[in-house]
Amino acid sequence: MVSPLVVPRHVAIVMDGNGRWASKRFLPRIAGHRQGLEALRRVVFACTARGIGVLTVFAFSSENWKRPPEEVSGLMNLLAFALAKEVPVLHKEGVRLRIVGAKQHLSERVRDSLAQAENSTAANSRLLLNVCFNYGGRWDVVQAAQTLTKGGQEITEESLSRNLSTAHCADPDLLIRTGGEMRLSNFLLWQAAYSELFFSDVLWPDFDDTALDAALDAYASRERRFGMTSEQLPAASDSVS
Ligand code: IPE
Ligand code: IPE
Ligand code: MG
Repeated sequence: MVSPLVVPRHVAIVMDGNGRWASKRFLPRIAGHRQGLEALRRVVFACTARGIGVLTVFAFSSENWKRPPEEVSGLMNLLAFALAKEVPVLHKEGVRLRIVGAKQHLSERVRDSLAQAENSTAANSRLLLNVCFNYGGRWDVVQAAQTLTKGGQEITEESLSRNLSTAHCADPDLLIRTGGEMRLSNFLLWQAAYSELFFSDVLWPDFDDTALDAALDAYASRERRFGMTSEQLPAASDSVS
């Protein structure tokens, strides 16, 4: 059982392994993505039940456009379907939805439904769900730097952080990647500077409360030093997080 005292405030997840989940069952890859949506719903509820305040998930990367066109359009359709079906459920659960990523490359239909989903859940505060769609960590740093440059502002760590696409929340405490790969694949490169990393072999469609608790248990056992020594921590732990 995870101690409530050490529950991360912000959990980020690279939801990986949908394609392999489908291949193992001789199903088309999109079937894995559909099952991945079920897993996401499960994990959102699990996070609210555990008092996690922010969940940020990687749903479609800047690089995922390189996939076969039928998979890309399948994922776009799944996003539209998920928004239509899930937003009322999320709203009822007190979840605020934010879509994070380069929206200008998405179709007008998708952009409109994203804006509508964000607006209708804007007042909710139980859990903030950031869905990173058409997101890349490099894109994020570049767009923040470009905003500052255009405004004639100095680039500092603080000003850059304030202009990232996740500036509305603190950096992730725990970053989980499912599916067995041990890489970030261009996710939250700046924001994950001091996140605790957890790699799970569970394929995303199979990810459940038990798999989440394994990550939360591992997190609870870590010592986050932020560059300091262990001895310094008890006095400083409030000021570094
Ligand atoms: C992650 O699952 C979902 C997306 C990248 C959209 P994958 O589709 O990458 O699944 P694998 O890694 O091929 O199993
Ligand atoms: C990362 O997974 C992107 C998402 C989960 C949305 P990928 O499956 O695209 O990552 P690589 O290609 O294996 O690095
Ligand atoms: Mg993958």
